[in-house]
Amino acid sequence: MTEAVLVADRLVAGYHGIPAVQGLDLAVAAGEVLTLLGPNGAGKTTTLLTLAGLLPRMGGRATILGTPVDHRRPYRTARRGMRLVPDDRGLFAPLTVAEHLRLAAARPDPEREKSVLARFPALEGLRGRKVGLLSGGEQQMLAIAAALVARPKVLMVDEMSLGLAPMVVRNILPAIREIARAEGIAVLLVEQHVELALAVSDRAIVLNHGRVVLSGAAGQLLADRAKLTAAYFDGTATSP
Ligand SMILES: Nc1ncnc2c1ncn2[C@@H]1O[C@H](COP(=O)(O)OP(=O)(O)OP(=O)(O)O)[C@@H](O)[C@H]1O
Ligand SMILES: [Mg+2]
Repeated sequence: MTEAVLVADRLVAGYHGIPAVQGLDLAVAAGEVLTLLGPNGAGKTTTLLTLAGLLPRMGGRATILGTPVDHRRPYRTARRGMRLVPDDRGLFAPLTVAEHLRLAAARPDPEREKSVLARFPALEGLRGRKVGLLSGGEQQMLAIAAALVARPKVLMVDEMSLGLAPMVVRNILPAIREIARAEGIAVLLVEQHVELALAVSDRAIVLNHGRVVLSGAAGQLLADRAKLTAAYFDGTATSP
């Protein structure tokens, strides 16, 4: 197996000394897509924020490209190639699409912007439009495009499809899959559209009440729907 570029090892994460995620192990290799599933409050966002160094770890280890994640210096992880698209998308409404893409890279990279936009043709004609005037789907495409402009090695996307029509999700998820494979980006997705997410993932982990209750190859999880549903809704399934 290729060496993992994003690793959590018995990770404990939470708020004010109270763990919301307990003993999470995960590893994502370059070019691989791992999806984190689970009901509301399971600890998905907490996991992403902690891996990104935006929340202090309460225990265990987290490394990105071999370097320990340090919440006192989250910019270091970002410089090494980690990008997080948060669940609120983290966009600036008064900026135009073009300005947003320009700001996303450390230095202007018009060639890169062009190649990323080619992956999201719906954005091509909107370069001059203010971000606040874009539709939800267009905003989500921009958030992902902006993350990609920076040529990340690790991409984490929280609630990619929040508020989006399934049609839109069906367009964006395969684009992420293709880019991850083509560019060797390790992708960690949080998704509510379970089937759509599993269809583009290599592997998935189901969290429930902060613990891993099921994990495996995406195809395997899709094939055993009863087990997946049990893990998702009442956390009774255990990993094979
Ligand atoms: N800022 C915070 N302060 C204290 N507790 C928090 C905070 N944010 C989240 N929590 C708690 O941590 C637990 C995990 O929350 P988290 O946001 O990680 O869940 P999630 O899996 O992302 O859920 P959702 O699907 O609703 O986004 C929940 O019990 C939640 O109430
Ligand atoms: Mg969340």
